[in-house]
Amino acid sequence: MQKMTNISSVQEYLLSEKRQGKKIGFVPTMGFLHEGHLTLAEAARKENDIVVMSIFVNPLQFGPNEDFESYPRNPERDAALAASAGVDILFFPEADEMYSGSSIKMHVTERTDVLCGSRRTGHFDGVVTVVSKLFNIIGPDNAYFGLKDAQQVAVIEGLVHDLNFPVNIVRVPTVREEDGLAKSSRNVYLSETERAEAPVLYSSLKDAESLIEEGKSIPQTIISHIQNRINSETSGTVDYIEIYSFPELEDIHSLQGEFIIALAVKFQKARLIDNIIIKKSQEEKQNV
Ligand code: PAJ
Repeated sequence: MQKMTNISSVQEYLLSEKRQGKKIGFVPTMGFLHEGHLTLAEAARKENDIVVMSIFVNPLQFGPNEDFESYPRNPERDAALAASAGVDILFFPEADEMYSGSSIKMHVTERTDVLCGSRRTGHFDGVVTVVSKLFNIIGPDNAYFGLKDAQQVAVIEGLVHDLNFPVNIVRVPTVREEDGLAKSSRNVYLSETERAEAPVLYSSLKDAESLIEEGKSIPQTIISHIQNRINSETSGTVDYIEIYSFPELEDIHSLQGEFIIALAVKFQKARLIDNIIIKKSQEEKQNV
């Protein structure tokens, strides 16, 4: 594995590899790698000739009261893990180089007025800015994004469509701990008690899935069930529990087609998000 920090060096190197017909798979991350990130890299390894991972804690996507300064970092451990997952190029740019002399601001107008987008003003503007830059620097054929951040996937798919980036977005299912908690760099912020309570988030989403399979079709009934479980079984505070069509993220009144049930819960030092995406065909509904 090669570590590169300079934008023009990595861009020139990958451009010349592409000209020789090599297929490039790209995994953008903010580091502090865990199995979720590594699963993305392993998926990229199977489908491409060169796997590039970026590690960049992007200041633009953090709000003023968020955890940019304290975001967990461990570059040495990350490099060893990336190498073990089959990464060929680890791109580690400096913030100064990424954002020196910027004169363009990007703003997302669709799919961001709900879920995290409506609570974290400017977050997705920061995400599309850095991802656009990274796509231009790396020039990937395939780019891998986790469904743990399903709204991010929806926004990035919108970005690729709107700006005609010649890249295929690969959606990777959420990787979980054995007890169901979605793996996240922010799980280290949980106290011991909170960590023990946190699996209730996914378990309540699985309940919702069962209720829908049994024929419940009113979004509010499902939301209330999840809310009750989180309120009674955890010390966390629900930030949101919402249901939308996926990936459009539009309101739905009945649970049909492809839709997402997504939630965010605030604990003392960590805000956790999770979701499930369900596909329900019209036919299935008639059978219920
Ligand atoms: P980060 O939070 O480091 O996540 C990098 C990628 O790993 C994202 O696509 C995310 O969805 C995926 N990921 C994280 N936890 C996962 C899990 N448990 N299962 C599957 N995939 C998981 O998302 C970002 O960084 C940034 O916003 C970024 C896209 C790099 C732009 O700065």
